[in-house]
Amino acid sequence: MTSSFPLFAAVPLAARDPILGLNEAYQADTNPKKVNLSIGVYYNAAGKIPVLSCVQKAMQTLLGQVSPRTYQPMEGPAVYNQAVQKLLLGADHPIIKDGRAVTAQSLGGTGALKVGSDLLASICPNAKAWVSSPTWDNHRAILEGAGFSVEAYAYYDATTGGFNLAGMLNDLDRAQPGDVIILHACCHNPTGVDPTADEWGKILDKVEQRKLTPFLDIAYQGFGDGLQEDSEIIRRFAARNMPVIIASSFSKSFSLYGERIGALTVLTANPDETKRLLSQIKRVIRSNYSNPPIFGASLVSTVLNQPDLRALWEEELAGMRNRIREMRLLLRERVSARVPGKNFDYIVKQRGMFSYSGLNAQQAQKLRETYSIYIVESGRICVAGLNVDNVDYVAEAMAAVMKG
Ligand code: LMR
Repeated sequence: MTSSFPLFAAVPLAARDPILGLNEAYQADTNPKKVNLSIGVYYNAAGKIPVLSCVQKAMQTLLGQVSPRTYQPMEGPAVYNQAVQKLLLGADHPIIKDGRAVTAQSLGGTGALKVGSDLLASICPNAKAWVSSPTWDNHRAILEGAGFSVEAYAYYDATTGGFNLAGMLNDLDRAQPGDVIILHACCHNPTGVDPTADEWGKILDKVEQRKLTPFLDIAYQGFGDGLQEDSEIIRRFAARNMPVIIASSFSKSFSLYGERIGALTVLTANPDETKRLLSQIKRVIRSNYSNPPIFGASLVSTVLNQPDLRALWEEELAGMRNRIREMRLLLRERVSARVPGKNFDYIVKQRGMFSYSGLNAQQAQKLRETYSIYIVESGRICVAGLNVDNVDYVAEAMAAVMKG
């Protein structure tokens, strides 16, 4: 081995990403029985990542219309951004009509979180950011990278496997006016535990009373109860007449992970504010990556704006949502049969792609090393990776690691 360059001699090896690192390890695993329940990706009943029919049709249309690959506007195309606003708020929402929303195309939901965090850090440099305990592993890294100091509020109650409303409200009493609070609009990642409509009402009151800035992360719209239902909390925040920041993603709902297609939306008080916010968002985008890529946005706006493709998409999305529900039922049935006396109802109560299984890091490691079943070390299982062919193998392995 050659000696190190002095510049790099003391550079340490970075820790493996808790989610993407596992995905890499899964790809390298040669066990034919391997199962990937780590990354938040939807696999169909045949264990494949689907290319949705609506997307295939939009692709055919777009590939038939060869257009110059010039730079896009920094904020992405208006046709895409308007479609995003309608999906989040509802087509006829007065906020859209009144010019009180600004949207910019982003590199997936992660890109929206990054641009939104940089934007907020420049507007309120002394604010803290609050994330749920637990939260998606990348939230803290993105917020800290933008300069925020990050605090956690109680969320998941390990004793009930449900939501700890009292703990959350109590923790938010420590937040200062102007602090940013990250909220999962639906299908909480990693727990799958969402507040009820009434509980959301109490959270809204607390956010308003403490004058916090809500930053809603909605990466799984359509995977909980439906497109409308899953975005209801956005409209409830909008109705409170407060600044709201929203990071949204089409990675999952369009099965377009690698196109990196999402959006940052900010709700403002008036069109003049909208104009100023847009100028700041453009500034952040320019200094991060200049302007976004074309193809993903063209695909999504073609589907959303063409009624027949839109209807097909909603049907396909419902198909994914229903298959995940079936897998939840099946997993509960198969694990319960192998671990009698233990209640696995949490698996079917949780929403979206994930189930917080209660397995600990050692058990997750054992699943990986002994069975080539990959789950996140927090115990998060991506239910969307299950199918009728692997569910028994997974249930058997889960039962074995639970029994020690
Ligand atoms: C996940 O939580 O697994 C997904 O959102 C993928 C990612 O980027 O972490």
